[in-house]
Amino acid sequence: MLMHYKAITFVKRPTTDITPDTFETITLETPALKEGEFLVKQTHMSLDPAMRTWMQDNPSSYIPPVAIGEVMRAFGVGEVVESKNPAFTVGARVVGVTGWAEYVLGGPDMQVVPAELPVEALLCVLHVPGLTAYVGLMEIARPKAGETLVVSGAAGSVGSLVGQMAKAEGLRVVGIAGSEEKCRWLVEELGFDAALNYRSANLAAELAEATPNGVDVYFENTGGAAQHLVFDRLNRFGRVTVCGMIADYSREVPAPGPSWVDINIKALRVEGFVIVDHYDKIPQATQALSGYLQKGQLKYRAHVLKGLDSAIDGVNLLFSGENKGKLLVEL
Ligand SMILES: NC(=O)c1ccc[n+]([C@@H]2O[C@H](COP(=O)([O-])OP(=O)(O)OC[C@H]3O[C@@H](n4cnc5c(N)ncnc54)[C@H](OP(=O)(O)O)[C@@H]3O)[C@@H](O)[C@H]2O)c1
Repeated sequence: MLMHYKAITFVKRPTTDITPDTFETITLETPALKEGEFLVKQTHMSLDPAMRTWMQDNPSSYIPPVAIGEVMRAFGVGEVVESKNPAFTVGARVVGVTGWAEYVLGGPDMQVVPAELPVEALLCVLHVPGLTAYVGLMEIARPKAGETLVVSGAAGSVGSLVGQMAKAEGLRVVGIAGSEEKCRWLVEELGFDAALNYRSANLAAELAEATPNGVDVYFENTGGAAQHLVFDRLNRFGRVTVCGMIADYSREVPAPGPSWVDINIKALRVEGFVIVDHYDKIPQATQALSGYLQKGQLKYRAHVLKGLDSAIDGVNLLFSGENKGKLLVEL
């Protein structure tokens, strides 16, 4: 049955901040399905900092930019409402690449997930944030009990999981976040050893106090104010996982990074990664994350916006730091 639905297209590449004229809301009609196709009614959409990078026409990126006029790209969860594909039956819950739209045509990357799994556990832990935290920490940083880890963007969806996993692995964990409320949440609710506000005028001294034995692992989610200070405290054989640089996504020219002299002299390993190159690790990541969840070692919080249109302004909460937890849109 053909239905009209709302979708949001990407119409203007931002040069700095994302403004409402970046998008246009349109009405589309669901297509008549061909053999092998299925139609998904999206129920929850994830808003991610990577969306800003998908808007950039950067030929070196890991993924093509969203084209002008295209429905804006997103990850999301939905229910199959019509199907000509026996692997995706009507009523099944699916997760994968969707788009800023109420209905989407199911794609080859979609996975069926158990309907009884809470959507928030799926989008806040088991899907992108958890896989990212798992790969960046366990596969790239390779932490050892007794070491000190500093994570930036610590109260965010990836950072909060990284810190809790590192605690579960026996590390000293220091989080860096942008508000006192977030720092309290990290220490009082998630059990971080310390949390520092990067807006503090005394950040260097506070960091030195929180990391008396230096820093062995720096999980970098943001760049910005703390980066050089943490880098300067890295111990010999320290590892830096470069997961994200949100402080630079909207800048025309990225901030200069730390010097390579220390990488040489301290024998540091600085390694970037993008999860699209690590989908083969989904089974072990899911197993590890489910284990932490079952033992009560992972807490999470979702910041839920209502209605598709809320994404247009809502995406900026990620850049102002006003999101408290994984930013989602409930459609
Ligand atoms: N490599 C990958 O495959 C991969 C996958 C997923 C995510 N990521 C990256 O991981 C990072 C975190 O993503 P997330 O989904 O967990 O988002 P998130 O942390 O839930 O939200 C973004 C947070 O970034 C902080 N922030 C914004 N501007 C900042 C600035 N100028 N300086 C310092 N902090 C700033 C804000 O927190 P405060 O209040 O603390 O400022 C904001 O809440 C992002 O850089 C993202 O691109 C990478």
